[in-house]
Amino acid sequence: MRQKFVAGNWKMNLTYPGALALISEIADQLGAAKPTDPVVVVCPPFPFLSGVGEHLPKGGSVHLGAQNAHHKEGGAYTGEVEAKMLVSVGCEYVILGHSERRQHFREDDALLGQKLKTALAAGLKPIFCVGESLETREADETFDFIAKQLKDGLFHLSNEEFAQVVIAYEPVWAIGTGKTATSAQAQEVHAFIREQVARAYTAAAATDVSILYGGSANAQNARELFSQPDVDGGLIGGASLKAADFVAIVRSF
Ligand code: PGA
Repeated sequence: MRQKFVAGNWKMNLTYPGALALISEIADQLGAAKPTDPVVVVCPPFPFLSGVGEHLPKGGSVHLGAQNAHHKEGGAYTGEVEAKMLVSVGCEYVILGHSERRQHFREDDALLGQKLKTALAAGLKPIFCVGESLETREADETFDFIAKQLKDGLFHLSNEEFAQVVIAYEPVWAIGTGKTATSAQAQEVHAFIREQVARAYTAAAATDVSILYGGSANAQNARELFSQPDVDGGLIGGASLKAADFVAIVRSF
């Protein structure tokens, strides 16, 4: 069954005390999970994962995710973090294919394909990001671009592997810019993504996959975005760094 979802991407922000303060506030405000609640995930920077994991609210209302993982299963890769390490500190999710990784760290579809495989083999659920730049949108090539990102990056997975994946649509022009996609723009692309999933896999896989919107989503616009039939929640950057805003977004369904 398709799940509602809100994931907070803390990016390269906060210090350890700040991260603990944030998760403690989120835990206080969210409290115990109700069956109707969305799945809530927080994705702190690597050094804070274990400590934040210890401060998650009791009862499993918030899950731990990482912002990246290496594509290899361990070894001599100085400075890198492998998927199994993340699982060993309590991570259940990992963001892969974020546009900031694609852009600043030259992560391409081939590499992301390997990252997906390694993460899945370790037991992580990937939150796989796709999204077009402003140039692509203005050139009216959004759908072709997204279709290619899905085909080259994601659709090589088996049915069983794909069932573990959450997709995030994050138009690059909306990330951290304060410029949100309208709910109609988001819905249009989300519906398109679901259609591509139905073609690549099955109608049931398309019905079941959660597709999140990301890009300047906040406590003010989340309700409108999440009211769209194919928008199953959000991947939240800036607004996930304030407990009150993040909790308001979680309560926006
Ligand atoms: P933003 O970031 O909410 O700050 O725009 C979203 C994301 O990059 O996941």
